[in-house]
Amino acid sequence: MRILVTGGAGYIGSHTCLELLNSGHQVVVVDNLSNSSVEALKRVEQLTGQSIKFYQADIRDEKALSAIFAAEKVDAVIHFAGSKAVGESVAKPLFYYENNVSASGLLMQVMLQHQVKTLVFSSSATVYGEPVSSPIREDFAVHPESPYGRSKLMVEQIMSDLVVAQPDFSAISLRYFNPVGAHESGLIGEDPNGIPNNLMPFINQVAIGRRPYLSVFGDDYDTPDGTGVRDYIHVCDLASGHVKALETLHQNAGFHVFNLGTGQGVSVLEMVDAYRRISGQLIAYQVAPRRPGDIACYYGDPSLAAEKLGWKAERGLDQMVADSWKWQKLNPHGYTRRS
Ligand code: NAD
Ligand code: UFG
Repeated sequence: MRILVTGGAGYIGSHTCLELLNSGHQVVVVDNLSNSSVEALKRVEQLTGQSIKFYQADIRDEKALSAIFAAEKVDAVIHFAGSKAVGESVAKPLFYYENNVSASGLLMQVMLQHQVKTLVFSSSATVYGEPVSSPIREDFAVHPESPYGRSKLMVEQIMSDLVVAQPDFSAISLRYFNPVGAHESGLIGEDPNGIPNNLMPFINQVAIGRRPYLSVFGDDYDTPDGTGVRDYIHVCDLASGHVKALETLHQNAGFHVFNLGTGQGVSVLEMVDAYRRISGQLIAYQVAPRRPGDIACYYGDPSLAAEKLGWKAERGLDQMVADSWKWQKLNPHGYTRRS
């Protein structure tokens, strides 16, 4: 298939482009490079020996988007483009509703104009909000607690309404738990701007000496060691989940939702221990107050994806850590050539 990947130069997008190419698909990327570097795509080309058609464009630009669809004759779209920082979404809600919700609506409109009827969307486990319990299943109640989370849920609702009006449209929403890790080559990985908000990129920067210590946000949660528990998933497993979803559900009408996680909870201190053991680096940390809005324990039930897509995460915690560390060591300052 020929796949249009919005946000394909970003962290998850670049790993998915690689997986698509390795699975025999062709890839067209649209990215405005607001949070990424074109260098990621060059490295995917280097790793696969195949080329990617790249358009530096904003998906909010209807004219540009329509011209790309007219020129590229794609079979399906994987939609990663958007903004993802929870805190920023609280400060700039209108921007999040524009860049995540309005832009997605526009994308679906342009898809219909060009008879492209398969869409895979990057949603987030954050749509569940505080769950009644973990593991979280897809049929649990959704009540996101930030503009970011609500923007993801709104896009899912648009997709679900669209398949009623367009019964031949296939809309797949993938709710990711906590993506971490990097391709095993260490050539592509996560390259956050500024001070990382998330645990793994922060530990990476402590390990490489860019930050003196990790703040562990709370050690008094009701969890086995008192620190927060999450469902970390290797980004390459996440990438293969997109390819499976696309190959299984292309032209399979309706709205489909799947959790992508491992089903295993890992605490902050377990992550620090694994990182110390695998990297051999001293990961200094200090216990700090709880981070507002954090939940004690959050992990998914991935059995629906196993049943319907034949997909399962294959990489464990040690590989997530080993690949993150390799990426960080080989690229201490990430992709330094930002465009
Ligand atoms: P990322 O920031 O690395 O990738 C997003 C890409 O979209 C970037 O390359 C950025 O330049 C591009 N982009 C943003 N707005 C655009 C626009 N208007 N037009 C064109 N390109 C635009 O983020 P990521 O971690 O790869 O996340 C990808 C998707 O997955 C996002 O939608 C995010 O909300 C979702 N998600 C991420 C996580 C996570 O923890 N990383 C968890 C759940 C869901
Ligand atoms: N943590 C620390 N110190 C840090 C960073 C994080 O102790 O410097 C802890 C947090 O308190 C939490 C755990 O590490 O217990 C994971 O935190 P992350 O920020 O890495 O991830 P979250 O689960 O808070 O949030 C992530 C994404 C959200 C997404 C959510 C669910 O950032 O966008 O997963 O998919 F919505």
